[in-house]
Amino acid sequence: MYSDFKTISTYYDALYVNDREYAPEAAKVKELLTKHGVPPRADLLVLACGTGGHIPYFKDDYHVSGLDLSENMLALARKKFPGLRFHYGNLINFELETDFDAMICLYGSIGFVKTVDNLRSSMKHIIAHLRPDGLVLITPWSTVEEFQDIIVVDATDKPGLKIARMEHVRLKEPKIVEVTFHHLLGIRNEVTYHKQSMEIGLFSRQEYLSAMTDAGLKIVEEYTGTDVRGGAYIGKRIVR
Ligand SMILES: C[S@@+](CC[C@H](N)C(=O)[O-])C[C@H]1O[C@@H](n2cnc3c(N)ncnc32)[C@H](O)[C@@H]1O
Repeated sequence: MYSDFKTISTYYDALYVNDREYAPEAAKVKELLTKHGVPPRADLLVLACGTGGHIPYFKDDYHVSGLDLSENMLALARKKFPGLRFHYGNLINFELETDFDAMICLYGSIGFVKTVDNLRSSMKHIIAHLRPDGLVLITPWSTVEEFQDIIVVDATDKPGLKIARMEHVRLKEPKIVEVTFHHLLGIRNEVTYHKQSMEIGLFSRQEYLSAMTDAGLKIVEEYTGTDVRGGAYIGKRIVR
């Protein structure tokens, strides 16, 4: 089942989107796109774009559009970037009328497709929308090799909005991670509690790479720097 971002979308930007992580991540992604031949003004599709947290860093250099499966997240993105196009669609089976020079899928969002079959289907739909020499950059949601059970703790303190979060990330089944969000929200004079669990697919490095290469992508780089959360697999659609 699809992980619903309805409640979390209402405070997603306040809790997760910040210059500290998003700015260096986007800068490195841009550098990697350029290094692998994506020119300025290229058509760039941001997959699982959410509220468009990365878009401010890309929109002046590329023709940016976004795709996501949450109407709530898309509504926020559309409000923030009224001049850009946002498509409602599923990574696993999206069909758009346009093709792109590059696609990016950041912050491990690909893990939400949950199964290896869905991962492979996503890669087929990605390459089907890539122009010749087009590039795709995917940040994995951890990998079987690197996964560790953790409890994340953090807090946000903004005028009129305070959020304390603990998120329990644990292996539920051999290839499924369950993230349980415990969010305490202080809005004006009231404190409420939101608890929600989401399931995320845990794939091996090889499963990511095979899904890409079997779809017809040539792996041009595996980036492992920590400025891009999760690192990145970068594939190119080579047409001879
Ligand atoms: C953790 S958020 C990340 C959003 C954004 N990439 C960011 O870094 O801020 C994950 C996003 O993936 C989207 N998503 C989950 N499953 C999806 C799917 N199958 N197809 C498209 N989007 C999906 C969710 O709606 C959500 O907006």
